[in-house]
Amino acid sequence: MNHKKKLYIETYGCQMNFSDSEIIGSVMINNNYELTNKISEADIIFINTCSVRDNAEQRVRKKLKELNAQKKNNPHLKIGILGCMAERLKSKLFEEEKIIDIIAGPDAYRYLPDLMTTVESGQKAVNVLLSAEETYADINPVKFGDNKVSAFISIMRGCQNFCSYCVVPYTRGKERSRNPQTIINEANDLFKQGYREVTLLGQNVNSYNWKEEDNVNFAQLLEKVALVNPQLRVRFATSHPKDISDELLQTIAKYENICKAIHLPVQSGSTRVLELMNRKYTRQSYINRIEAIRKFIPGCAISTDIITGFCGETEDDHKQTLSLMKWAAYDFAFMFKYSERKGTIAADKFKDDIPDETKGRRLKEIIELQQKLSKESNLKDIGKTFRVLVEGVSKKSDQKLSGRNSQNKVAVFPKKEFKPGDYVNVKIIECTSATLIGEAINN
Ligand code: 5AD
Ligand code: SF4
Repeated sequence: MNHKKKLYIETYGCQMNFSDSEIIGSVMINNNYELTNKISEADIIFINTCSVRDNAEQRVRKKLKELNAQKKNNPHLKIGILGCMAERLKSKLFEEEKIIDIIAGPDAYRYLPDLMTTVESGQKAVNVLLSAEETYADINPVKFGDNKVSAFISIMRGCQNFCSYCVVPYTRGKERSRNPQTIINEANDLFKQGYREVTLLGQNVNSYNWKEEDNVNFAQLLEKVALVNPQLRVRFATSHPKDISDELLQTIAKYENICKAIHLPVQSGSTRVLELMNRKYTRQSYINRIEAIRKFIPGCAISTDIITGFCGETEDDHKQTLSLMKWAAYDFAFMFKYSERKGTIAADKFKDDIPDETKGRRLKEIIELQQKLSKESNLKDIGKTFRVLVEGVSKKSDQKLSGRNSQNKVAVFPKKEFKPGDYVNVKIIECTSATLIGEAINN
């Protein structure tokens, strides 16, 4: 019998990377490999990496150290570094980390079986070529998610916004959109398999633009996916504040199954810092977009990303970030200390001059404020009833189910007869800063 080699994939970084790992899995399965979720029994380990902050890279380095022992026990074990860190450091990684056999950038996943052939012949293999066209449109990704209810669909790749702090345009190359028909087919297939929620992914989905045959922009794509089935929820990430259009907001408002949650990374509340970051919007124009969201989509949740301690950030700039957070009353936020990345515009032009201690203190203030805002936002939901899509059993109690409402808030409630994939009306009775707690009513 033909023994299939076992592949284990570990993923770091963003949702896009998790979606890429599903493409990688699919490419390998189609070439006679099988997937395992036990790292100890793997013949091949792929680590899909992230470069966005230094600590993301440090975690990968630590993982490689741990793998040293496994490789000593099993000299046939092959280890691949894939994704953004592979693209950033290229074959230099072979010198720095001796146990690596394969280096493959984000546009090289189609060639992984060829790279494996080279490696099986005893050599090291690398492909870090970026492409202006690759979207993996024809590859049907295997689904790794821990529920069979919600899935990611990658709709575009790359980024060319060149925010001054960001490594992504260098690691993921030019922006390109995927053929809309392949996106709709994937959403249809997922629905038929029982999935009830898809999240459309891109670095900046607002600039999705398919120019062949008929022209399709993001608002139009979102509408097409919403029309796949009213029982299929649609989410998307990430939006850039500079080009979130009224047309898009109207489309979100028009369809019940397009979720009322927008992730709109602000990064800083100070126009001066936003300019240094090359974000191409001001504090005021960001405020205007939030006002537009509130006008077109009442009850829409808004979440954000914030970087604290960017080059030259003053106490006043920091206070402006805090005041904007309060004004926006974000429901949720990802918050980070600025981490200088080699090769970016900020690393070349500005000094990373905010002491780590100051960055830490500002981050703490930002996190504390956000916790308060999240709690206040959840408290306002007490007494309201939401349509919750059940994802699975609650982590804290097997007598409870956990799911999300349209606003992307997690809600838990007693199990009764419900199962994953059901829509349940849940009345909220209490909350923490992270979770709504309720009970099912009139289903
Ligand atoms: N340092 C810290 N955070 C960063 N991000 C991107 N680049 C950096 C960096 N150099 C954050 C931004 C972005 C999120 C994905 O990661 O907030 O929106
Ligand atoms: Fe995702 Fe950016 Fe990290 Fe690459 S560097 S994995 S694009 S967050």
